[in-house]
Amino acid sequence: MEKIVIEGGQALKGNVRISGAKNAALPAIAACLLTGGEHRLYGIPSLRDIRTIRVIMSNMGVTFNDSNGALVVNSENLNDCEAPYELVRTMRASILLLGPLLARLGKARISLPGGCAIGARPVNLHLKAFEAMGVEMFLEQGYIHARADRLKGANIFLDIPTVTGTENVMMGAVKAEGTTEIRNAAKEPEIRDLADLLRSMGARIQGDGTDTIVIDGVRDLRPAAKHEVIPDRIESGTFMIAAAMTRGEIMIEGCRPDHLDAVIEKLRCVGAEITVNDKGMFVKGPERIRSVDIDTMPFPGFPTDLQAQFMTLMCIAKGSSVIRENIFENRFIHVSELKRMGANVRIHGNQALIRGRKNLLAAPVMATDLRASASLILAGLVALEGRTEVHRIYHLDRGYEALEEKFHTLGARIWREKA
Ligand code: EPU
Repeated sequence: MEKIVIEGGQALKGNVRISGAKNAALPAIAACLLTGGEHRLYGIPSLRDIRTIRVIMSNMGVTFNDSNGALVVNSENLNDCEAPYELVRTMRASILLLGPLLARLGKARISLPGGCAIGARPVNLHLKAFEAMGVEMFLEQGYIHARADRLKGANIFLDIPTVTGTENVMMGAVKAEGTTEIRNAAKEPEIRDLADLLRSMGARIQGDGTDTIVIDGVRDLRPAAKHEVIPDRIESGTFMIAAAMTRGEIMIEGCRPDHLDAVIEKLRCVGAEITVNDKGMFVKGPERIRSVDIDTMPFPGFPTDLQAQFMTLMCIAKGSSVIRENIFENRFIHVSELKRMGANVRIHGNQALIRGRKNLLAAPVMATDLRASASLILAGLVALEGRTEVHRIYHLDRGYEALEEKFHTLGARIWREKA
C-alpha cells in the first residue's frame, strides 16, 4: 500500500497538461466490443479503472496493444460474455459492457454492482431500458443474465438522466432493429464523445448533448479508425481549484473550457482570474478567497465529481458557504477527514455548511473514494504545521493520472511513499 505525503504552503505555478477523461475512455473501450477488427483509441489515460476494464475484456478474448500513442483494441475473437464479481466490485462502470455485449452476442452475464461509498447507485434504469428493448433478464447468484436475439428499438424515458445508463442504451441501440429514442437522456460531454465514436463506426445517432437522443439501428458497424477521447474535465477542475486554493498561477493545457462553464463561473465568484486561450485556460488564485454556495447538478450544472474538491476550497474561504449534493446521497464522506485537518463543516442531510478558516492543518488522513482523495490532497497542499499523509490512495489511482507528479511539477512538495 502506498500513501501520498505533502508539505503544504507552496503557491503552485507553471503549466500542466490534462489527460484523457476516464469517464469517456471507459465507454469508448466498451464500445470496441460492438464489432471485430482493430479500433484505435487515443488519449486513453493510464489508470487503475482502465486496467480493470482491460482485464475483464481480455478474459473475453479481446486483445489490447499500445502503439504510437494509440490503444489498439481488437474484439474479433470475442468468445465470452461474463464480467465477474471480483472485478466488477472494484469498478462499477463494468455495467457499461452490458449494452455492447447484448448488441454483439445477444447475451451477457454481468455481476450486479453493489452499493459504493458515495451511494446505493442502483442500475435499475439500465435494466428497465433493456427490458423495453426486448431483453430477457434474470438475476442469479448476484449476476444479471441477459439475453435477446436482436435488441429492438424502443421509446425510453429515463426517470433520472443517468450517465452510464444513457451510454449503455446508446451502445445497445446502435445495432438494434428500428429506432430508439432516449428521453431525459444525460447531456454530459462524455455522452457526445461516445456518440462521436459510435458515428465514426457507422452508427446513426442524433441529438446527443440534448435531452432527447435518437438512434436508428444498423446491421453492421466498422471498427473505429481513430478516436481521441475528450480531456478530463474533472482533472481540469481539480487543477483550477488548486490554483485558487494556493493563490497560484496555473496554465491548464489541453482542457476544454466549454465543458467547464459552471466551474469557471463559480471560481470567478470566488475571486479567481480565469483566461481562456487557444492552449487551454490560465487560472490565477485570488489573494482573498470568497465564499460561494454550490449545488451539484447534471451537466451543464456544477459536477458532483468536483464537489469534494470545491468544499476544500471553501474550507479556507472568507465567510460561510452551503454546498448541496443533489446527485449522490452519501457524497460527504470526505468531511470527517477534512475535519481532522481543522475544517469547520456541518452536515444536514444533503447540505454542508462550511465556515471558512484561515488555514488547514496537516494531519494523516484516509482517502475513501476517488474524488474524496483529490480533495484531501488539495487540503494537504495548503495545510500548515507539518506533513499531511493521505492513505489508501488506491482510490486516487483509479481515476487521476500521475496527480502527485503533476502537482510536483507545479512546485508542490508532494511525493509517494510505501505506507
Ligand atoms: N441512478 C438510479 N438508477 C440507475 C442509474 C442511476 O437511481 O439505474 C441514480 C444514481 O444512484 C445517482 C444518479 O442516478 O443518484 C446519477 O447517477 P448516474 O447513473 O448518472 O451515475 P453513473 O453513470 O453511475 C457517472 C460517472 C460518475 C459521476 C456520475 C454523475 C462514469 C463511469 N461514472 O456515474 O463518476 O459521478 O456519472 O455525473 O461515467 C467518478 O468519476 O468519480 C464518478 C463517480
